[in-house]
Amino acid sequence: MRAVFRIGGSVVASPVNTELMSKYVELLKTIKAQGNEVVVVVGGGTLARDFIGIAKNLGLEMQAQDEVAISVSRLFAQLFLKKFGDDACSKVAVTLDEAAECLAEGKIAVMGGLKPGITTDAVAALVAERVNADLLVKGTDQEGIFDKDPRKFADAVKQDQLSFEDLQGVLSETVHKAGIHQIIDPEAVKVLKRRHVKLVVVNGFEPQNILAAVKGEKVGTVVN
Ligand code: UTP
Repeated sequence: MRAVFRIGGSVVASPVNTELMSKYVELLKTIKAQGNEVVVVVGGGTLARDFIGIAKNLGLEMQAQDEVAISVSRLFAQLFLKKFGDDACSKVAVTLDEAAECLAEGKIAVMGGLKPGITTDAVAALVAERVNADLLVKGTDQEGIFDKDPRKFADAVKQDQLSFEDLQGVLSETVHKAGIHQIIDPEAVKVLKRRHVKLVVVNGFEPQNILAAVKGEKVGTVVN
């Protein structure tokens, strides 16, 4: 299987959790050793947001704010890459082509952000499209996708299984109720839908969940 793993900055970098990062590295190495092709996309978490704030306070425009956030996500990507050692390529992939070349060399491709104006979810979806991945797993700070924002509504219900149409319904509804869009970027969903890439959203604080997702076990929310 060819799979993209999107590890939320909210999970490993807010605050920085080196124990969790190490666990992810070991698990992803295991997944590769089992014969799968692995791409990892890491976000910058609160540190990226801090830098966005600094750029804003300096009066810099949105593009520059995004650029510094991308740099921060690439720093975290570099830490993962170094920890992977020989299993990964020697550099963080900064283009989709570089990620594809890295996979073709039989290595784990590691990415942070790609370009201003998008999120790391969109990066993960774009790289999934580029390498023709079977699966995108997103490790986030919630148990999966809910029918409404669980941080706002106590009666929100976690969904075990959704179609892409269902998911787009949930997301478009939330344009009016800010917050839930964070669970997955609607731009990423568009790409995954058109390329038929299965999406599994899991609680990233339990790294074993990504293994369960690869095995096709019932975990988080499955979208296909
Ligand atoms: P994310 O919000 O995608 O990263 O990117 P994260 O920290 O992993 O987020 P969680 O865990 O889902 O909460 C942070 C910011 O970096 C910029 C954007 O400003 C984005 O909001 N960014 C990221 C880009 O501009 N381009 C990219 O390709 C990636």
